[in-house]
Amino acid sequence: MPQHPLPATALTDLLGCRLPIVLAGMGGVARSELVAAVTRAGGYGFLGMVREPLALIEREVAAVRAATDLPFGVNIIPAATPAKQLAAQVDLLIALRVASVELFWEVDARVVARLRDAGVTVVHQVGSAREALAAQQAGAQALIAQGVEAGGHVRGRQRLQELLDEVLAVARVPVAACGGLADGRDLARALMQGAHGAVLGTAFMATEESFAHDAHKRRLVAARASDTVLTEDFHINWPPLAAVRVLRSSVTSGERGDPFGGQRTPIGDEEGRPIYLFSTDSPLRSMTGDFEAMALYAGRGVDRIDAIVPAAALVAQLEQDAARHLRLLADAAPPLASPVCYAPEAQAAQRAPLLAALDTLLRAASHRATAEGCDAALHGAGVVRRAIRTLDGKPWTPAGDGGAAPALDAAARAVQALLDGVEDAALRKELEQVVGPWLEGGH
Ligand SMILES: Cc1cc2nc3c(=O)[nH]c(=O)nc-3n(C[C@H](O)[C@H](O)[C@H](O)COP(=O)(O)O)c2cc1C
Repeated sequence: MPQHPLPATALTDLLGCRLPIVLAGMGGVARSELVAAVTRAGGYGFLGMVREPLALIEREVAAVRAATDLPFGVNIIPAATPAKQLAAQVDLLIALRVASVELFWEVDARVVARLRDAGVTVVHQVGSAREALAAQQAGAQALIAQGVEAGGHVRGRQRLQELLDEVLAVARVPVAACGGLADGRDLARALMQGAHGAVLGTAFMATEESFAHDAHKRRLVAARASDTVLTEDFHINWPPLAAVRVLRSSVTSGERGDPFGGQRTPIGDEEGRPIYLFSTDSPLRSMTGDFEAMALYAGRGVDRIDAIVPAAALVAQLEQDAARHLRLLADAAPPLASPVCYAPEAQAAQRAPLLAALDTLLRAASHRATAEGCDAALHGAGVVRRAIRTLDGKPWTPAGDGGAAPALDAAARAVQALLDGVEDAALRKELEQVVGPWLEGGH
């Protein structure tokens, strides 16, 4: 363990792990060997069990339990699973008393309620602040904010940094950051922004224990972020119009024909099961075939993956580097170019009224966004939260807050009166745009 360990967070408390480092529930890839390795190293692992048969789920849960007594979870995807199979999976997970279930794609309130009522902790991955509200409303006990940088299926279109501020502005439950995160600096930045942990997929795919085929792992080591692309070409097995981030290939360049032509061309085999061109299957250890034409999932953090390592070594490196970066960020001298145009010695005192006004505005905007769930209010609350961070303030969080909300129009007027003091032109403009419609109590 490093000399300066990472702090416990509301997420580590909820899940019962030592580190705020989570292995994404990757279908096919996050099997028992990887989940056990990450969990034993102090992180938290989700078995990727989307559409898997009950016997495999049972076997994989037993295999992790044989390797560790520590808690771990299972990922399933209601929208990508036939109804009967989904119901049987949920029944099984409850019967097996798994500690937590991570859900993704459309919020299925009935599945959330059924799991929660049975005492299973429900974590929901979301791609927008609006979806975060829906998952929270349905009863999710933690959220994963997935930025567009993510590998695999990508739900939303916002960059992680922007999405995270919007989700944190309305979340009453712990929030993990996800999408394109691959090293300790990424983890430290997410924690500094207010996340309670980080979820990594691609980085853990490039470990010895992951069930991905070596051919896929080698491609990850060689690839750059610019080699990744969002596409709907890999669609067989999934609801329509679901984008995935993959490495560019003969499929994404169009050389393999029209993905929506309706034909089923086998390009591989997994123990007797054909793997079709344009399906969402990615190359696994258990497969043979034309891997170049399969879905080579990869997030934009692939830039920072340069070797296949044991998962425990990756967790230890993440912990050590994140702890170091957190200390550096905390000790950092005030920025040379301050976003507020006051003499340095007077800065803190002068900034105080603006930060106080922004704090009141964040409370009011968060209340409006939570009550109405409209995109403009959600976006506005995120911008105000980011402004507070940019001014080195500590943003208020809705968790546990039962107080009355301040009036939005009065809070907006108080901020507008102080906006001339914000030197960062882009930030000032963004705040002006957000505050404008609120001045008279509008949206
Ligand atoms: C190979 C692969 C398979 C994935 N499969 C699933 C899945 O079955 N269920 C799910 O909720 N998310 C899945 N995801 C998305 C992850 O949950 C997560 O959002 C993503 O890995 C984060 O981005 P990163 O890969 O850049 O770390 C998958 C991602 C990858 C890379």
